[in-house]
Amino acid sequence: MAKVAVLGYGTVGSGVVDVLDNNALEIEKSAGEKLELKYILDLRDFPGDKHETQVVHDINIILDDPEIEVICETMGGLEPAFSFEKSALERGKSVCTSNKELVAVHGPELVELAKKNGASYLFEASVGGGIPLLRTINDSLKHEKIDSITGILNGTTNYILTKMDKEGIGFATVLKAAQDKGYAEKNPEADVEGYDACRKIAILSSLMSGKHVNYEDIYTEGISRISIEDFAYARKLGMSIKLLGMCRKNENGFFSIVAPFLIPDENPLANVNGVFNAINVHGNMVGDVMFYGRGAGKNATASAVVADVIDIIKHKGKHINVNMNAEKAVLSPKDNAVRKFFVRVPSENKEQAYDVFGQGIVEVTSENVYNEFAFITDDISEKDFDEKLWRFDSVKGYIRLY
Ligand code: HSE
Repeated sequence: MAKVAVLGYGTVGSGVVDVLDNNALEIEKSAGEKLELKYILDLRDFPGDKHETQVVHDINIILDDPEIEVICETMGGLEPAFSFEKSALERGKSVCTSNKELVAVHGPELVELAKKNGASYLFEASVGGGIPLLRTINDSLKHEKIDSITGILNGTTNYILTKMDKEGIGFATVLKAAQDKGYAEKNPEADVEGYDACRKIAILSSLMSGKHVNYEDIYTEGISRISIEDFAYARKLGMSIKLLGMCRKNENGFFSIVAPFLIPDENPLANVNGVFNAINVHGNMVGDVMFYGRGAGKNATASAVVADVIDIIKHKGKHINVNMNAEKAVLSPKDNAVRKFFVRVPSENKEQAYDVFGQGIVEVTSENVYNEFAFITDDISEKDFDEKLWRFDSVKGYIRLY
């Protein structure tokens, strides 16, 4: 019988407890022994809850209990989660977590700490919710030279973009409706400005590089400036607009970005709608591998946390190696990346657009949008694009092409 503690009895924590309760038999078969939930750490009491007697308020009760082998940290935020995880690993207890903020900032040092203490540090639920992505990268694809990971990593923004596209409703109205229904946070900044996707692509970039990619080094743009006019053009082009997190390795180095992209409809990522997430991983031998599923939500995220617990119990006494260390990764600057851009300027700037971006630009029209000139540039570096865009007094919008 392996004893487990859950830190934080909120949405994900209570989901972990539900998975442990509802799937006890399946978990036992998979882990090779029964799992017993011994403690739930929370500041609150839960009178009447099935597990009220397991609720404790002092982390030391859990840390000092030699029976506890695995701790599920589902509190979120940097502190006290970081201190609790560190203390647990220092005592040789394994930790699994859904806490993407913490993994993005301290993941590599916690992996090293786990290794030093013969424990494991796993964080499947921190990226892509219930999608079994990190374990697959860390196991089935470990022998591959992975050269790109591209994903729709945020369910809230994908829901908003899908609604804007399918129903022709503007960003602010869709966001308000999503907040009213509880799909989007009251403070939506982390999702809509791309910060959440940035943490997730930072974790994936660290796994891909084997080093520590600092999320602050990743150029990040959100979706708040995407308009329904952009979708009208996208439809004309046979494309969709998606917020992508991307990391790429090539002869120029290693590069990560979060931004809205125009994606051709024939790309499977273009057809991922609503709150779903999808991630494409490209390996040198296997080619493209695509993952799709619920990137958020209580049960899906909790299921991924429990998958980590089972992995840890199956590898009792061993450190599960994760391809990450605390050495800082050097990202190649955004300026060097070359791609095409879709740009919208006022009609009177048409000639200027040809002058500045060259005669190779391709005009795009849409029946529903007037008084502007829209075009697609030739391949151009981010640096040149920025420099050329600054020459216009007014720009209605631009989106990168995938
Ligand atoms: N706010 C996140 C999302 C939750 O919308 O995807 C899952 O990390």
